[in-house]
Amino acid sequence: MKIAVLGTGGGGRAHAARLLELGHDVHVGTRDPEATLARTEPDMMGNPPYQQFLADHPGIRLHTFADAAAAADEIVINGIDGASALGALTAIAEQLNGKVLIDYAVPYLYGAEMEHPWPTPFGTMPKLDPCDTDSLAEQIQRALPDVKVVKSFVTQEQDTVVNPEAIGGGDHTMFLAGNHTEAKKTVTELLNSYGWTDILDLGDLVAARGMEMYAHMHAAIGLTLGLGNHFGVKVVR
Ligand SMILES: NC(=O)c1ccc[n+]([C@@H]2O[C@H](COP(=O)([O-])OP(=O)(O)OC[C@H]3O[C@@H](n4cnc5c(N)ncnc54)[C@H](OP(=O)(O)O)[C@@H]3O)[C@@H](O)[C@H]2O)c1
Repeated sequence: MKIAVLGTGGGGRAHAARLLELGHDVHVGTRDPEATLARTEPDMMGNPPYQQFLADHPGIRLHTFADAAAAADEIVINGIDGASALGALTAIAEQLNGKVLIDYAVPYLYGAEMEHPWPTPFGTMPKLDPCDTDSLAEQIQRALPDVKVVKSFVTQEQDTVVNPEAIGGGDHTMFLAGNHTEAKKTVTELLNSYGWTDILDLGDLVAARGMEMYAHMHAAIGLTLGLGNHFGVKVVR
């Protein structure tokens, strides 16, 4: 399939590399391809320059967000920074319409005023906005009514999402939610191809609120286990 991955961060790279390995035609979106290719330093998360990633993964094609989305025949993965995603996706509505948009972004707001900040070794924990009474996924769905938004992948590091067997032999749970039954079937098939066997459909997209808020729990567990200790969650039932 022709699949678009919007985002050049660590998560976007994990999906692009795995989709390529699975034989898909991978189209990655960035704001400005020339600027992205001109970078020579690692990004703020320590990921090597994107040109190096492309050299290591021949076949992946880099475009603008709009051109990458246009190239997809059905599936577009949203790996755009949470605070920027709504604006960036709304701007390419025409290229997204009719497609399945898998959203794994967390609506983190960095540097926000907080009455009771959560200090971490990496600075203050960002605030979730929206939170509780809305979610980023629902905002995207309201802004793009002709796009089939499915929230998924978000409760894991993306390296684990694309390779669930790396944790506990793959015996852990992946979640999804969305208002479009057929779109959720498409996402389930993609997850199966990544190796997921325990996939829990949480129902309508409103459940994205729970998945996005889980980011704080994921962070708390990650801070406790320490950097580099990847983990999964299993719903025992
Ligand atoms: N990485 C993970 O394992 C993981 C796990 C769960 C959830 N998430 C969430 O998923 C989202 C993506 O994470 P990520 O680590 O893959 O990448 P990221 O570093 O958070 O975001 C990278 C992407 O955001 C784009 N971007 C940044 N500022 C922008 C702006 N002002 N306008 C438009 N685009 C902008 C960048 O565009 P350029 O390409 O032009 O630089 C880049 O493609 C985040 O919300 C993150 O919290 C990540």
